Amino acid sequence: MGERPVWADTLEGAVSLHQKGDLDGAATAYLQVLQVAPDQPDALHFLGVLEHQRGESEAGIRRIQRAIALRPEHADMHNNLGNLFKELDRTDDAARCYQEAIRLEPRASHAHQNYAVVLRRAGRHEEAVASYDRALALDPLAGDTHYNRGNALREMGRFHEAAVAYARAAELDPDNTRAYTNLGQALYRLGQIKEAGRVFEAWLEKEPGNPVAEHMRAACSGENLPDRASDGYVTRVFDSFAGSFDENLRNLEYRAPELVADALERHAAAEGLSILDAGCGTGLCAPLLRSRAARLVGVDLSRGMLAEAQKRGGYDALAEGELTAYLEGRSGEFDAVVSADTLVYFGDLSAFLAAAHGALRPGGRLIFTVEKAEDADGFRLNPHGRYAHGGSYLEGALAAAGLELLEMAEEHLRKEAGRPVEGFVVCAGRGSAAG
Ligand SMILES: C[S@@+](CC[C@H](N)C(=O)[O-])C[C@H]1O[C@@H](n2cnc3c(N)ncnc32)[C@H](O)[C@@H]1O
Repeated sequence: MGERPVWADTLEGAVSLHQKGDLDGAATAYLQVLQVAPDQPDALHFLGVLEHQRGESEAGIRRIQRAIALRPEHADMHNNLGNLFKELDRTDDAARCYQEAIRLEPRASHAHQNYAVVLRRAGRHEEAVASYDRALALDPLAGDTHYNRGNALREMGRFHEAAVAYARAAELDPDNTRAYTNLGQALYRLGQIKEAGRVFEAWLEKEPGNPVAEHMRAACSGENLPDRASDGYVTRVFDSFAGSFDENLRNLEYRAPELVADALERHAAAEGLSILDAGCGTGLCAPLLRSRAARLVGVDLSRGMLAEAQKRGGYDALAEGELTAYLEGRSGEFDAVVSADTLVYFGDLSAFLAAAHGALRPGGRLIFTVEKAEDADGFRLNPHGRYAHGGSYLEGALAAAGLELLEMAEEHLRKEAGRPVEGFVVCAGRGSAAG
């Protein structure tokens, strides 16, 4: 056996600091290793990953590429470089790295799973499903792989197979609330509405009072409809969704943040605004609103989503709370209240609109998106769990809250199961004097 190198303890310590999230401590220790052994591939590889985590992605890529040049047969390095490219939206580069990782280590299920993600992102759903299948052949108990495979099948309109995949995901990981929800939806799309309701009944038997199951049961049965999704539903769904939210929406051609930012451009003063992002989620609106805002505040019920928004940055303040209650506590504080894809969790909008009116300064703007209901005069809770609103209902509710309708544009908000979701982008104003 060879002698243990002098840097081995330092490298071990660096990895342990890195795993605990102490990026500064870990970086210092990796650099110490590289001072005595400049070509140590593990230190180069892990430091590259760390640099990416700190936002220094180009340096991280160069560092990992150097490690790979020194040890080209190391599958994990290719896989991690693929992960960097994936997060940077460099899908082709990521795909090449995963292919190489798979070539070197065909039995690594995570590389097949990662490759499937980029294939799906590139719209190559058929190949993505094949890659998920290979991952599952190696690791059949991976609930998240079944779930993601279900999503790829759903995007191709293969609802039956999607339902089977979601059912397996829910069985393997009972905390994956989206697996139950998507199972119910897939059954609904197959016209099996009773079966969809039964999924939620069974879930409630197992977990009485579960707010997600209660909401979805109401959505499927049309009985005991709530005025809006309960706080419990919103926090459970979005806390579990936070880590994969951006990735999922990228696959759905999600446009709501751009649409509300464009409406703000058309209807509000150029800059220096005090803006509330109501239901800010992971903060996708922040980069689009930032240049217009002297102060940008985000409010959201989900702690998980807020943590992602905090990482993304761009807000002057982030508040955890229910957005109507938040608005009710603030009189004349905002020039604009913006809400992208959040009022789809509200049916009756009257309390929200009254609160928004109160929180706006005279002349202020309220801008939001909702999904479009067939029935123009009302709103409905759809079996997928989101509400849709009719145009006449919106006009009436805005007027009742003392808000003047400035624009109501019909737009495609995103895709669902391969089809565009139609919605409204609404801009309303609070009158400049007594309004
Ligand atoms: C679909 S996400 C949209 C997030 C963000 N606006 C975007 O466009 O990316 C909806 C967000 O609204 C939040 N939400 C839903 N109902 C809420 C309520 N009553 N109060 C506060 N946040 C709410 C959820 O937690 C979630 O983060």
